[in-house]
Parts: sequence; C-alpha cells; structure tokens
Amino acid sequence: MDFCGAHILSVNQFQRDDVELVFEVADRMEPYAHRLRVTKALDGAILGNMFFEPSTRTRVSFGCAFNLLGGHVRETADMESSSITKGESLYDTARVISGYSDVIVLRHPAPGSAAGFAKASRVPVINGGDGANEHPSQALLDLYTIKKELHANGLKIDGMRIAMVGDLKHGRTVHSLSQLLRMYQKIRLTLISPQELRMPSHIVSDLKAAGHEVIETDDMADGLQESDTVYLTRIQEERFDSKLEADIYRGRFRLNQAIYTRHCQPNTVIMHPLPRDSRAEANELDPDLNQHPNLAIFRQADNGVLIRMALFALILDITDKFEESAKETSWYTGGRFSP
Ligand code: NCD
Repeated sequence: MDFCGAHILSVNQFQRDDVELVFEVADRMEPYAHRLRVTKALDGAILGNMFFEPSTRTRVSFGCAFNLLGGHVRETADMESSSITKGESLYDTARVISGYSDVIVLRHPAPGSAAGFAKASRVPVINGGDGANEHPSQALLDLYTIKKELHANGLKIDGMRIAMVGDLKHGRTVHSLSQLLRMYQKIRLTLISPQELRMPSHIVSDLKAAGHEVIETDDMADGLQESDTVYLTRIQEERFDSKLEADIYRGRFRLNQAIYTRHCQPNTVIMHPLPRDSRAEANELDPDLNQHPNLAIFRQADNGVLIRMALFALILDITDKFEESAKETSWYTGGRFSP
C-alpha cells in the first residue's frame, strides 16, 4: 500500500510487506524514542488526538510519538468536554478538526466510527480503537513486540504458537492481532475464553482458511501448553449491558507465577495490551510476575511509541527526512531504556 496520506483504519488494508516496512521504520525510531537523538522533522505539524473513550497508553503514546518527531499535539480527552454532547455529528467534527490538523487519531466507542470519520476528514485518520471492532496500531505494536521477543528465543512469527486468553469476543486488540497474523505462515492459535466470549467466528474461519491451526477452549491449563507467547486480555466491562454481567466472567482466567511455572514453557513470552484489571476480583495477570524476565508488557507499551512514530513518518512522508535534521539530546536522559 501507499502509506503517504493514507488512513489507517483496519489491519486488513495491509499486506505482509507493509507490516515489515512499518517495523523497519520503527527500528530506525529507537534512538529518538530512547532520547539519544532529537529530530524536528514535523516542526509546525499538528496532530488532532481525539479520544472519546478512556485511554492512557494509546492517547499518550500517539501524542509522544508526534512530539518526538517535532510536531505539536491538540487533544480532546473525553466526550463530556466536546461538542458531541451538544449533538454534533462525527461528520461535522471530522470536517472541522481536519481543518485544524495534519493528521488525526480517533478513538470512539462505535464500531466503524473511524471509517465514517475518515470519509469526512480532509487529512489522514488513524483508528485508535473503534468500539469492539479494531485497534490496528495496537496490533502492529503487539506483532512487533512478538517478533522481537521471539527473536531473542531463536523463534519467528512464522510457525509460532500463541495463546490468547480472556474476552476474545469484545477485545479489539485480539481481533486486529489475529487478522494481522493471517498473513504469516503456519501459526497455531489457542483461543482460551468462556464459551460466551469466544472470538468472532468470521475471524476464526478466516484464520483456518489461511492455513493456520486454531484451537478454541475454555480450559486454560490445557490451552497454555507449549505456547511461545501468551496474550492475556481484560474482560471488556464497557462492552457489556451491565457491570453485573461482566462480573460473571471476571477472574475466570488468571495467570500468576504458580500457573506459569506449571503450564507454560520456561521461555513463554507474557503479553497484555494493558490496562490489566488489578482489582482483586479480576487480576488476570498477577503482579507476582512483575519481575519475571519474560513479562513483556512494559516493553510492549514502549514499542507503541516506535510503531506510532513509524506510522506518522510513513503517512506524512518524512521517512527519508527525519534523520537529516537530527542532533544529539542535550539533557540528562538516564538509563530507562537500557536492557
Ligand atoms: C486496549 C483497548 O483500549 O482496546 N488498551 C489499549 O489500547 N492498550 C485494551 C483494553 O482496554 O483492555
């Protein structure tokens, strides 16, 4: 695909080469994200960061990514403070904000909202999560993380075995990640969820049609066996009719040190898109794994900045320019990114 000026709405718009290109550009962003070098390539450019649903990582990392390329960020962080509460349509919002921005990131609770918004927008739109539908930048950063973590274990994405656990029905991160995996080879996906929260059947059948092995189970101990990566998810409470209904499933599948030791391999990579639900009744990923070397969740979140910088660089066509204006960082940067 041609990234220049493109909207990023769904992982289905990518070919494998496009994904590899994003990863290559992301690798080149490391010195900037790690505060070794500074670039002003996007000096004067404005990101409209429009978040109509709760977010910490996605909102802040998109903003940081744009800042790290030298651009400025304008942000709407909730529905209440925006004109949407006065009855304004997404069409009008898109027309207006696209006059103020060079690129827009949109998060919105309605599936398909990002595509509708993009139709009305005069500038590229990145889907930062549209309801239970998709979260393409998260899938890219998840796969980028998987690639790096597996590489350290002498493994590749092709041929890997991944277990996805939790609310696979409503989790947009697992929807996008599974669809992205379709373009790789011979993957075994073990989908561990309550019966009622299974992965949408069209995603499962597309994976099978692409030659992958898909196992669906509600037995976590069994499902974790011989997995190279385990990807946990939160029960997506906000997608249920009531909190009471979500309570039925909370805490049903948990990973902690004892379960990991018993059912995972010594080098199984532990992932989670975050936020993990740390309330006692949920706790799907126990803090007793916080010091575990295979816990990749914070490396995963760090990688989000690299991937989002790469997307901005590709969409705004500065991949051959951002290094030109670069210089060394002039302030104390500490050792926060050392291995
Ligand atoms: C996820 C989301 O918003 O879909 N978070 C994120 O973007 N990292 C996952 C979640 O909220 O459970």
